[in-house]
Amino acid sequence: MVLWPISLFEAARKVQQSNTPISQIRMNTTDSDYDFTGKVVLITGSSGGLGAHLAQEFCKRGANVVINGRRQSSVQSMLQQCQMLSPNQAEMLAYVADVTVKQQLKAMVDATIEKFGKIDVLVNNAGGGTFGSIFDEDLDDKMHRMMDLNLHQAVMLTHYAAPHLEKNKGNIVTISSILGQQPNQYFMPYCVAKAAIDMFCKSIAIELGPKGVRVNYVSPTAMRTNFQQASGAGETLKGVLSHLEETIPLRRIGRIEDVGNVVLFLASDKSSFITGANIVVDGGNSLI
Ligand SMILES: NC(=O)c1ccc[n+]([C@@H]2O[C@H](COP(=O)([O-])OP(=O)(O)OC[C@H]3O[C@@H](n4cnc5c(N)ncnc54)[C@H](OP(=O)(O)O)[C@@H]3O)[C@@H](O)[C@H]2O)c1
Repeated sequence: MVLWPISLFEAARKVQQSNTPISQIRMNTTDSDYDFTGKVVLITGSSGGLGAHLAQEFCKRGANVVINGRRQSSVQSMLQQCQMLSPNQAEMLAYVADVTVKQQLKAMVDATIEKFGKIDVLVNNAGGGTFGSIFDEDLDDKMHRMMDLNLHQAVMLTHYAAPHLEKNKGNIVTISSILGQQPNQYFMPYCVAKAAIDMFCKSIAIELGPKGVRVNYVSPTAMRTNFQQASGAGETLKGVLSHLEETIPLRRIGRIEDVGNVVLFLASDKSSFITGANIVVDGGNSLI
């Protein structure tokens, strides 16, 4: 029995030519399709949660990854993990920066260019929520914080990175949320900020398309990360997550791997004719 590590179309051709049963053809749709060797991938908020998973997945596929977060210890520990995972001993850059501080964003892009000379993929992942109500005394602060953390920093980082992405015909993947499309009374400032980043992605996709730069975004449902704790809704959200597990059509909440697979696809040449797109990763949550 012959097992060929080949793509879907190649498999179909082989079946047609040789009458080999499809059950005997081994598909190879994993790492050879997503080879990022030599690519420079900057991922914000990649010292923990979803961003850390993304950093590891790109490293495993040969990329030089820029790891970012606010805490030196977690950024450094992620750097070591990524170095261990890299099959080609690719160099990584650990960059401690608060993305809500504009000067630090520009400095992060400059440091990336100084070390690697280019940026191929920008993943705008850093973000966070806040639990609250329209009656909150500190609503003004919350609105500003949500817009700074989920929108303004990604806009400005993209602004600084865009000339470098243009040189390399790179691409941008932004992590939004289904709450950018689905109103939620407990997360209004976050919903508003994510809805705004969605529109930002679609708008710049039009401007950057002719320059060869694709721009896409992903809208996950709830995943168990530090997000819930950081949003100040730890205990309340525990009940919400259990409820979601019982009601989402696919009967579970999201996993970082669900989003990781989509980000790899959007960052790769496999999606070379896709721009301005939103991929909803929610097990059908937004249908109900
Ligand atoms: N988890 C969910 O349920 C969910 C659902 C839909 C969408 N999302 C989106 O997914 C993305 C990732 O969230 P997550 O769930 O992975 O959150 P998380 O577990 O809280 O991780 C956030 C990461 O970003 C870093 N970070 C936070 N604030 C930062 C800042 N100002 N500057 C630089 N780094 C910062 C954190 O490290 P430090 O704290 O050490 O800086 C950490 O590495 C966000 O855009 C979020 O809105 C999450």
